Amino acid sequence: MTSSELWSRATAERYDTEEAGISSPAALGPTLDFLAELAGDGRALEFAIGTGRVGVPLRERGVPVVGIELSEHMAAVLRRKVDEDTLPVAIGDMATTVVPGGFALVYLVYNTITNLLTQDEQVECFRNAARHLEPGGRFVIELGVPPLRLLPPGQVAVPFDVSERHLGFDTFDLVEQVLVSHHFTLEDGRYRRGASRHRYAWPAELDLMARLAGLEPERRVADWDGTPFTQDSTKHVSVWRKPVA
Ligand SMILES: C[S@@+](CC[C@H](N)C(=O)[O-])C[C@H]1O[C@@H](n2cnc3c(N)ncnc32)[C@H](O)[C@@H]1O
Repeated sequence: MTSSELWSRATAERYDTEEAGISSPAALGPTLDFLAELAGDGRALEFAIGTGRVGVPLRERGVPVVGIELSEHMAAVLRRKVDEDTLPVAIGDMATTVVPGGFALVYLVYNTITNLLTQDEQVECFRNAARHLEPGGRFVIELGVPPLRLLPPGQVAVPFDVSERHLGFDTFDLVEQVLVSHHFTLEDGRYRRGASRHRYAWPAELDLMARLAGLEPERRVADWDGTPFTQDSTKHVSVWRKPVA
């Protein structure tokens, strides 16, 4: 049983519109280049494929893609774009669901490892990625660096977006390593309130999870375009490899 919150039909129907800014061909180009190169002639498995923001254009580039997704509502939006033969999706938890065949690439983007709210489940997610990889295959994660340097003692929230139509801020439980992202979105003259829980983790903790799953660190950059990762980076794209022998 996963600890993830289930994404609703209403959220699924809004998703592509709300994420349009990071879904255009220009915005996705470096992501698709990065993933297609790692997939090579092999197959790719996307954990938490959602509405296919990344998986569908990667498939259109010629990479065979399979998805695992917890929310039937998110998968239903994907299914309007592409049929089951072209891009199969298994409904289930990415930490435990197994699909047939081996993969050259398993990837989990857009901070979605944090939807698993316990360390145990995040470790299981790494193990599930390793289970699906062929020898030499890669697991890729895109994740924000926890923004705790922005949270001085006594302050309870860190704003991450203050724009005309959206106000967003995070609050933190530093003991449980959980943050809640709060959203106030202007719709028809009223603010709609939303909130989601996330278990944040530093890159070093992910490296240890990868090691527990039998994967070796290969590369860490600050973004899909290969920008070097530094102590000031706000996110990372990390690659671990399953040893050949
Ligand atoms: C931020 S969206 C990312 C969707 C897609 N990968 C993208 O980049 O647009 C997070 C997705 O993770 C899914 N999800 C959350 N917990 C999950 C779990 N335990 N197993 C599989 N999918 C999960 C949600 O239903 C949602 O579709």
